[in-house]
Amino acid sequence: MPGRRPRQIEIRTATEAELSAFDAVPHYVFASSPEDVRTYAMMPSPLPAECRLGVFIDGKVTTTYEWIPWQVRLNGRPTSIPGVTAVGTYPQFRRRGHLRMLMARAMEVHRERGEPMVMLWASMGAIYQRFGYGRGSEYVTYHVDPRFVALREPFTWDGEVRLIDQSSAADRAVAERVHEEWAAPRNLVPMRDAARWAHQWWEAQRQGHYVAVAEDATGRARGVMVYKSKENQIPNEPGPDQQMEVRDFFVLDLDARRALWQYVRAHDLVLRARFGGVEPDDPLPDLLLEPRELRRATGDAMWVRIIDVPRALEARPYSAAGTLTLRVHDDFAPWNDGFWRFETDGDQSRVTPAEGAAADLDLSVNALASLLTGFRSATRIERAGMLSGDAAAVRRADAIFATAYAPHMPEGF
Ligand SMILES: CC(C)(COP(=O)(O)OP(=O)(O)OC[C@H]1O[C@@H](n2cnc3c(N)ncnc32)[C@H](O)[C@@H]1OP(=O)(O)O)[C@@H](O)C(=O)NCCC(=O)NCCS
Repeated sequence: MPGRRPRQIEIRTATEAELSAFDAVPHYVFASSPEDVRTYAMMPSPLPAECRLGVFIDGKVTTTYEWIPWQVRLNGRPTSIPGVTAVGTYPQFRRRGHLRMLMARAMEVHRERGEPMVMLWASMGAIYQRFGYGRGSEYVTYHVDPRFVALREPFTWDGEVRLIDQSSAADRAVAERVHEEWAAPRNLVPMRDAARWAHQWWEAQRQGHYVAVAEDATGRARGVMVYKSKENQIPNEPGPDQQMEVRDFFVLDLDARRALWQYVRAHDLVLRARFGGVEPDDPLPDLLLEPRELRRATGDAMWVRIIDVPRALEARPYSAAGTLTLRVHDDFAPWNDGFWRFETDGDQSRVTPAEGAAADLDLSVNALASLLTGFRSATRIERAGMLSGDAAAVRRADAIFATAYAPHMPEGF
């Protein structure tokens, strides 16, 4: 009986001619509707072909991996941290090690590109922890009935909230400037370049979003809220029945935060306002009479993979000067596995191999991702059994790795 002919397996970037076959994989595995597929095809600024890596069998794509070349602020410092997306294998090719091969190649590609880490939203954390990904941020939502979330203290303000004209370049620039100033000191937040803004405005128009800007008494924009409302969303409600979806909320000061909050509350016909992508360290709960009415819910957000330990540790500024010897375990990227001496003056850091030295901290590369992003302190990681070290070293690491803001990912990708 003739046997099946041997198959040729390649791991490579997709050519321009292969892009639609390539995109068909994530559309299939994520069950995109025909409308989603059409919308995707119309999106401005599609990803460059070089950011799409696939497994091809006899020239046909079976498994995909893409990344958005994000520039993020890592504890305030600009850093290239690609956002990985569109990971999928057609069902008939699953559990044959295709993703594992692709992940190994992707690690090398990111390393060659000089990228210290990558991050992603996981459909399931279980897929990625085996590849050395660790938790890097949390997703926070509020579900509020605006009638019950009054501010604790009376608030008066000379400024004004204004709905901007999204077709006006000047008005768009107002919102873009607020975002830039807001994002600059933050942690893990991607900066929006022209291509991302083109996407945001296109999406706002497609979805019918409003953009409200809080302007102070001198007319300076200090906060932005992007949202939409729909009526008849809550069945059998005799009174208000609208649902408001808040997609973006970024403010530069407390007055703008309070002003936009009052603005939400002034929507008398809204019964539920859902805020997605809230900053994990949002001060709002402390400003309210009844904080529990926010119905704050959390979930995992970014999963972060350190590509190159020295490069990643040298990328961000720290909260304190200090020296630590780290024993890092990484069985998927052997170049990371070993002893590293980490010295920082807070602003600049240096990491050198330290084979044979006594380790202050012993941890997996997954746990290092949680520490490095500031998502978890060394003490907390130790309590989870994912790090060991003597008490003084753990306290030192707590002080060094603390960040000004909690890591936060407001962008979907
Ligand atoms: C997740 C997915 C890409 C895996 O592809 P695959 O080619 O079958 O993966 P592999 O055969 O290379 O498996 C790699 C490893 O992950 C494990 N794994 C695969 N899918 C898994 C799942 N859904 N849950 C837990 N572990 C999983 C495998 O057991 C294997 O482990 P091992 O290498 O330690 O033995 C594929 O199942 C898929 O397309 N799922 C639906 C889309 C999805 O969820 N994508 C992720 C989006 S963030």
